[in-house]
Amino acid sequence: MKKIIVEAKNLKKKYRMSKTNIVKALDGVDLTVMEGDFSAIIGPSGCGKSTLMHILGLLDRPDEGSLTIDGHDVSKLKDNIAHKIRAKKIGFIFQGFNLIPTLTALENVVLAGRYGGLKPKRRRERAIELLDMVGLKDRLNHRPNELSGGQQQRVAIARSLVNDPAIILADEPTGELDTKTSLEIMEMLKKLNREKNKTFLLVTHNLEVAKECKKTIRLKDGKND
Ligand SMILES: Nc1ncnc2c1ncn2[C@@H]1O[C@H](COP(=O)(O)OP(=O)(O)O)[C@@H](O)[C@H]1O
Ligand SMILES: [Mg+2]
Repeated sequence: MKKIIVEAKNLKKKYRMSKTNIVKALDGVDLTVMEGDFSAIIGPSGCGKSTLMHILGLLDRPDEGSLTIDGHDVSKLKDNIAHKIRAKKIGFIFQGFNLIPTLTALENVVLAGRYGGLKPKRRRERAIELLDMVGLKDRLNHRPNELSGGQQQRVAIARSLVNDPAIILADEPTGELDTKTSLEIMEMLKKLNREKNKTFLLVTHNLEVAKECKKTIRLKDGKND
């Protein structure tokens, strides 16, 4: 039987800008992600996609609702525990790559392995293996500004996998890449899903990218559409 990786029910999140201006970024969202899913969250700008991803990635908390990640109830966790679960269970790929500019490709991946609790020898081996897998064996010692956008995103993909997470969250992973490079990155993610059974949840407003996904979740005004 397939495992449930993410189960979110009735997630709500408000931003209080002033006494009279309250933005309901999420207004009761339900979502289930099963092991091996390759799903896209789609919807217009401002509908709450990134807010939802931040909550699912334990970078932010909902005001209301329940959330389990890989069987752990994470709706009311203390920060230090949320931190540990995030490092071990969740991989992130961001639109702007978010690599540490002063670290090499190898060091960026190794650091994530350290946060996830891998021993020094193991995290180095694993980082090299993953950078090789994404085609960057000859770029281990390059810093982000010495890499193209597509190469930086491949470092980010390697980083997202280093702790063998239960799910990889990707918010507009091809948003800053040209069409050809976007396709290459999507192919790489799909291959990881197909061949290694990695579970992905993507955000995109690109319908071409959404078409490549096995399931879509539509949001509108902070609700399921
Ligand atoms: N930190 C924040 N403070 C105040 N309002 C925010 C914040 N983040 C997002 N919002 C608002 O919440 C709504 C949802 O935003 P977001 O989740 O970023 O949407 P999307 O990613 O779908 O474009 C928008 O109306 C946005 O302006
Ligand atoms: Mg967004």
